[in-house]
Amino acid sequence: MIIDGKAVADGIRAELLARTARFFQIAGRKPALAVVLIGNDPASEIYVRNKLRACAEAGIRSVDVRMPAEVSTQEATEAVRRLAADGEIDGILVQLPLPKHLDPRVILAEIPAEKDVDGFSEENIGALALGREGTVACTPLGVMELLKRYRIPTSGKHAVVVGRSNIVGKPMALLLLNADATVTVCHSHTRGLKEICLQADILVAAAGKPKLITADMVKEGAVVIDVGTNREGGKLCGDVDFGEVEKKASYITPVPGGVGPMTVAMLLSNVCAAAEKRIR
Ligand code: GUN
Repeated sequence: MIIDGKAVADGIRAELLARTARFFQIAGRKPALAVVLIGNDPASEIYVRNKLRACAEAGIRSVDVRMPAEVSTQEATEAVRRLAADGEIDGILVQLPLPKHLDPRVILAEIPAEKDVDGFSEENIGALALGREGTVACTPLGVMELLKRYRIPTSGKHAVVVGRSNIVGKPMALLLLNADATVTVCHSHTRGLKEICLQADILVAAAGKPKLITADMVKEGAVVIDVGTNREGGKLCGDVDFGEVEKKASYITPVPGGVGPMTVAMLLSNVCAAAEKRIR
């Protein structure tokens, strides 16, 4: 069965429209997200454009902050600090990757945890690691939402996460662990990747390598979640050899139309939650 992330995300975005309308009635303003884009990475430009459009469609005010690639660390941190102090801004997102001369740690540190709608802050990652309430990174949160809406159980299942990035792999592993899965994390130094993947009841591919996961690495009936967003000749493709793996998987997410649309929906949801918390 192919998991339709686009349809699930559309449903969530429709629910969010009602949620932002309710917020407007109480607060007299829309929830607001500031999106900071430094430089002109073409993929980041597309992501930011999609996020801004999604905000407008969900009844969220967005503030589009653009800075040239040559901006200094001080100028960038000051811009984020101003947004942090702005009472009318509920969420701040600094689009990654940053130009090479900028240290993301220094700039992201200016985002207060309560406005960190990406869930990248030390406080929010710490909360996730401790199983406490906090904001969770949008992509892994979107994967969990797909599992929930398709009623795919995680408790006692062996989940294998391929990839250990701070944005996807690590928080994904923590979420699955918190959902009572037995979790194995694989990465570029892992020995015997195929044998480990073959043990997976739930296999999450988040390595950023096209067709890394082939059919011979997948157990019959496994749930396969493809988080890859690789560009090959202008075409978007995942980390999974979809055509072959589809024949073995019980559930599988396509690229595009799987996890990708969920990331944006979860971002909007995190913005709403941050805004609601601030007026409480
Ligand atoms: N770059 C790639 N994915 C993301 C994301 O989820 N958030 C931000 N801020 N930058 C990204």
